[in-house]
Formats: sequence, structure tokens, C-alpha cells
Amino acid sequence: MSQVERYHCPLKIIIAFWGILLATVSATSMLCFSTGHTTINSIPVWPYGTDPGKSGIAPNGRPDTTLKQLPGAKLRFTEAQIQNPFSPADWFPGDHPAMPAIVAFGRKPLIMACAFCHLPNGKGRPENAGISGLPVSYFVEQMHEFKEGQRRSADSRKHNTALMAAFAKAMTNEEIQQAAEYFGSMKWTPWIKVVETDVVPKTRTSSGMYIPIPGAGKEKLGERIIEVPVDPYGTEELRNPRSGFIAYVPFGSIEKGKALVEGGNKRTSACGVCHGNDLKGLGPVPGIAGRSPSYMARQLYDMQQGTRNGSWTKLMKPVVRNMSEEEVLDVVAYVSSLRP
Ligand code: HEC
Ligand code: HEC
Repeated sequence: MSQVERYHCPLKIIIAFWGILLATVSATSMLCFSTGHTTINSIPVWPYGTDPGKSGIAPNGRPDTTLKQLPGAKLRFTEAQIQNPFSPADWFPGDHPAMPAIVAFGRKPLIMACAFCHLPNGKGRPENAGISGLPVSYFVEQMHEFKEGQRRSADSRKHNTALMAAFAKAMTNEEIQQAAEYFGSMKWTPWIKVVETDVVPKTRTSSGMYIPIPGAGKEKLGERIIEVPVDPYGTEELRNPRSGFIAYVPFGSIEKGKALVEGGNKRTSACGVCHGNDLKGLGPVPGIAGRSPSYMARQLYDMQQGTRNGSWTKLMKPVVRNMSEEEVLDVVAYVSSLRP
């Protein structure tokens, strides 16, 4: 049995309600589509980190005003400084070029600092996105698509995607350009270690990121990918921009993914023609090698469900249209395991 939680369009309710007016099932299921209800086709929850009942914050008790430190960092910050969305701690200023104001501070009251979620170096986390090393034109295009409602989450419980769109809406073209050039000037480097396994630590979710629960033991991985911080405390509490992630993927998924990515099959096509033979990007098409498998699976589902539907998404439509759940998993397991 699959470990994956599923959720469905409440077809029964819709049929019961509209059945009075429109007595056919086909008409009601079309209606389900036209209201933008995205769960008519079941999609797995692991790329979204929205498992019901799993959300929980770290147990850290009373406000902590001590100065925190990280190995190798000269600066010290309090928890409040680290978690300030309008001026988050910059632990290693030497690791990146000077940040434009929009990246370091955002713009009050509507725009949080990009560095808060994506980190000053743009490495990001599974629940948001790695945004360094993206082509500038692609980056700018995406910001406009968030702005215009063409990038929404297929899972309406994923609130940070809505936040991301709200920031994009409030940004000026100049701010967008500055952020795109800043993050585009840094290369995407290894950040995620991919490990094949059949058991994983039991986890809770924190804004959509899976965090191991100390002492809670293990559970079956099943047909999922679970991506956790290498150092949960350092990532969640200190926002350490030098500590990456481990992605646990099912045994055999990397090899199956490689075959699909390189050769395609009846349902999907090879990826290299557009993303470059090494999958590190080609012109305005973004690199995908070594990026977060949870993030990438989410994008593939969002495109399949039509909630990510920008002008360049058309090129991906035939790729994702008929991909099965297993194929999505295998493909992202392989792509994320590549050295960028
Ligand atoms: C509250 C956290 C948060 C903040 C702050 C934030 N983002 Fe994001 N961003 C996200 C999330 C979440 C996603 C992924 C959405 C999804 O997968 O549904 C994302 C995705 C993106 C992407 C898409 C990357 C890709 O590969 O297509 C870009 C570009 C981006 N953000 C730029 C920015 C910029 C520029 C800023 C600063 C103005 C910013 N973000 C601030 C949460 C955030
Ligand atoms: C015909 C060209 C084409 C092919 C083939 C193709 N892609 Fe894409 N891909 C694109 C374009 C263009 C985008 C940007 C889409 C957008 O702007 O919405 C993209 C975006 C993506 C993204 C989102 C990247 C991000 O940063 O958000 C992922 C993940 C992805 N592709 C994976 C794949 C995989 C895996 C394959 C092979 C199974 C593949 N693509 C095959 C053209 C292609």
C-alpha cells in the first residue's frame, strides 16, 4: 500500500448539490474543473509538505535572547534577529555579492526579504526554491507569472506559495530585475545529498519542510521522497545557509529516473533537449540538475494540474501531461542526484 496521503475533489458533495440542477455526472465533474478546484486528480502530498496533523513548531519554550553562533561565522545573532523577515541574519557576508535592498530587507509592509526564505546565497529550502543560478530572463518571467496568478499551488493549503505571489505583486520592475541579477550571478552548487532507502526518520512539518522528530524512531518511506535538513536545529532555528539537505528516495528510483530522463517513453520525453544535455540549463530554460526533488515534483504536479501555467509552461505540458506518480518520483530522484 502506498504511504502517500491523498486528497480528492469533493465530487460527492458537488454531485449532490448540482445534481438537482444539472442531472449529469459529466457536467458536474466539468464544473469541478472550472471552479479551479485542483484536487480532482489525486496528487501525492509529499512534494507539498501539507500532511494533515503533521505540522508542529520546534519546542523552544520561552523567548531566547542569547547570542547564537555558527561554526566558522564571526557574527553573532539573537533568535529574533535570525527570524526577522525584514532583515534576517546574514551569517556569512563573504559568501555572496552585496545584496540589493529588496533581497536583504524586502520592502515594508508587504514584501519580506528574499534572503529570509531563500537565504542570502539563494540556496533555499525544499518548501520554497533554490533560486541562485537561474537565468535572469527566466527569473523575471516567473516573477511576472506569480504576479499575474499563473503560478499558484495545486495544493491550496500551501500558504507560502500565496505569500510568494503577494510579494511579486507588490514588487516594482526594477526590484524584480535587481533580485534576478543578484541571484543569477551566483552558480547553483551541490546542496542536496540523495540517498536511496526504505526507511526514514519520523518527521513533523514546519511551514512545509519535513523535520525529523528526535527519538520518534523510523517509518517506511513507501512511494515518497522525504527531504530533511542535515542539521535540523541549524536549519530551522539558525537558518544556517551553509548546511544543506538529505533527500531520501526509494531504492531503484534513481536508475529508473535516469532511463526516463535520457530516453523518455510513451508518456514523457527526454529532458536534455531543452534543459541542456547536462541538465544545467540552456539559454532561458532553467537548470534542474542537483535541485530539490520536492520542489521539482511540486512544479511538475502544478504544471500537470494547470495551476502553474505561464507562457513558457506550454513547452512542459506535453512532458508532464501523462506522467504517472511513479515517473514523477523517479525523474526527480535522478535529476536531484546529479552534480550541478
Ligand atoms: C515567505 C517565504 C518567501 C519569501 C520571503 C520569498 N519567497 Fe520566493 N518562493 C517562495 C516559495 C514557497 C516558492 C515556491 C513556490 C511553490 O513551489 O509553490 C518561491 C519561489 C520563487 C521563485 C521561483 C523559482 C523557480 O525556479 O522558478 C523565484 C524566482 C522567487 N521565489 C523569487 C523571490 C524573490 C525575488 C523574493 C524577494 C522579493 C522572494 N522570492 C521571497 C517563498 C518565498
Ligand atoms: C520542450 C522543452 C522541454 C522539455 C523536453 C523539458 N522541459 Fe522542463 N522546462 C522547460 C521550460 C521552458 C521550463 C520553464 C517553464 C515555465 O516557465 O513555466 C521548464 C521547467 C521545468 C521545471 C521547473 C523548473 C523551476 O525552476 O521551477 C522542471 C522541474 C522541469 N522543467 C523538469 C523537466 C524534466 C524532468 C523533463 C524531462 C522529463 C523536462 N523538464 C523536459 C522546457 C522543457
